[in-house]
Amino acid sequence: MAEIKKVAVLGCGLMGSGIAEIAAKAGYETWVRELNDDLVKRGRGNISKSLDKAVEKGKLEASVRDEVMGRLNFTTSLEDLKDCDIIIEAVTEDIELKNEMFRTLDKVCAPHTIFASNTSSLTIAAMAAATNRPHRFVGLHFFNPVPVMKLVEVVRSIAVEQAAFKTAFDFVRTLGKEPVEAKDTSGFIVNRLLVPYMLDAIRCLEQGLATTEDIDKSMTLGTGYPMGPFVLCDFVGIDTLYFIAEIMFEEFREPRFAPPPLLKRMATLGYHGRKTKKGFYDYSGAAPVVVDLGI
Ligand code: CAA
Repeated sequence: MAEIKKVAVLGCGLMGSGIAEIAAKAGYETWVRELNDDLVKRGRGNISKSLDKAVEKGKLEASVRDEVMGRLNFTTSLEDLKDCDIIIEAVTEDIELKNEMFRTLDKVCAPHTIFASNTSSLTIAAMAAATNRPHRFVGLHFFNPVPVMKLVEVVRSIAVEQAAFKTAFDFVRTLGKEPVEAKDTSGFIVNRLLVPYMLDAIRCLEQGLATTEDIDKSMTLGTGYPMGPFVLCDFVGIDTLYFIAEIMFEEFREPRFAPPPLLKRMATLGYHGRKTKKGFYDYSGAAPVVVDLGI
């Protein structure tokens, strides 16, 4: 693993901040790139808060937290990432935005630099094709919350060379995560199975099978899932789920990936789940309360 010393993360939102946190925790000099100073400040604050929580819970020494923060560098410039050995993109699922960044980085980074995307639904080919290094381009799909979820899907596009794929796969292990290899089709392994499940739960609700709470209760108490499907939809984000479903439907043209009308209405009206404090549940009070969606 001598090949990777310096890690870059593009975007410091929910996923990017988690990825940067675990990379710095694993001992890598880590560079985080955000669009402007306000977003840098917010991203740095989120990582620092997460590490503080770990210290409060006795999971991390205060001195280690300070060392981890010391390994994190924040910038608004893509040029600052030119010496990084791996660049992990975790920005909004907008292919043009991603490709514009990758085109710039392709010019400034060394030929050995591996490009990776944390996309949940786009194909790696769609990004690799915008660069001159499709042979050094992989998917690294982390799960939310990144510090907790053990899995990373390492996505093998048809163009990637074995050496780059292996380096990325081994790198995941150094982060304390468990890698699995997936083919480059939309949704990879987890979302291929999880998205139709969440969409089906919404269809069950639309069809009046049972209440929101009872469907959630059934899947937690009946199958041992840590969250029911609607709590999970709110956790992932209604807008994100809608977007992923649209892309997966476009890829496979199968009805099971088609977003149900209720999901579309919620996405349109800003019922985006936990992040907007309202989705299938309302999170503005002490405990979540089911939202009346007129069903
Ligand atoms: N950062 C760090 N640690 C966190 C955390 C975070 N954001 N959120 C929770 N934790 C830790 C807590 O500190 C706690 O640690 P201890 O046990 O050591 O105290 C532990 O995780 C459990 O947390 P809680 O007790 O607060 O709550 P919980 O038992 O309900 O667990 C959960 C929370 C881990 C999120 C659990 O509910 C869970 O696994 N849910 C399913 C999550 C899931 O399915 N994620 C995948 C979403 S799909 C995706 O990400 C892919 C995509 O492309 C859409």
